[in-house]
Amino acid sequence: AAQTSRSLPLAGKHVLITSGPTHEPIDPVRYIANRSSGKQGQALARAAYEAGARVTLISGPVDLAPPDNIHVQRVESAAEMLEAVLSHLPADIAIMAAAVADWHVAEQGAEKIKKDGSGQPPALHLAENPDILATIGHHDSLRPELLIGFAAETQNLIENATGKLRRKKADWIVANDVSPETGIMGGDRNTVRLVHTDGVEDWPAMDKPDVARQIIARAAKHLSSR
Ligand code: CTP
Ligand code: CA
Repeated sequence: AAQTSRSLPLAGKHVLITSGPTHEPIDPVRYIANRSSGKQGQALARAAYEAGARVTLISGPVDLAPPDNIHVQRVESAAEMLEAVLSHLPADIAIMAAAVADWHVAEQGAEKIKKDGSGQPPALHLAENPDILATIGHHDSLRPELLIGFAAETQNLIENATGKLRRKKADWIVANDVSPETGIMGGDRNTVRLVHTDGVEDWPAMDKPDVARQIIARAAKHLSSR
């Protein structure tokens, strides 16, 4: 049966999602990147839209066509992503699905780095990036009602995810094992465990769109129960 938008579970809600990798410039022609495809974040954006929400997707550089009906802001670096997130809050739900680079190159030259003929490679000095999820989690006025992070781990999944939940003041952490043998990074499926303060839920392996719909359905239920 046809539903009016008012009867959809996230009607009238604003959902903000970060997605994709960030690119951290080394010089004008080079950058540091990671293997995030942005598929999970984009699937979340679609699922939130289908649930009736107004959706803002803050996306790092990805190879995906921007989804219809969703406000997409493209960014490159973690610093730009943080600025974009802050400028689009408040939101009822924020989902930080981006694989934000942990470091940026501390001193970027204006010129391309050249080989100097000595055979000695240049040293790249890295500095830590701002933590977008933790910044929002600790923000008094801009913290959304439901703040969801992801934790990509290759070992000690639950222990690490629980630590992130606490440190970043997230409500939920969607934990996933990204060991190379799982093929999750850049792939179409995901096996996640939902970590919150009351415990851990194991979800079966699903396509990323199904993971997204499950997260959005749970989020809508959470908001309506408060
Ligand atoms: N995150 C973020 N900003 C960062 C780093 C991470 O918003 N600078 C968010 C991610 O989008 C994700 C969550 O924090 O929702 C966990 O990211 P993850 O990389 O697993 O955690 P880190 O704290 O960076 O720890 P580490 O990479 O050392 O495991
Ligand atoms: Ca990280």
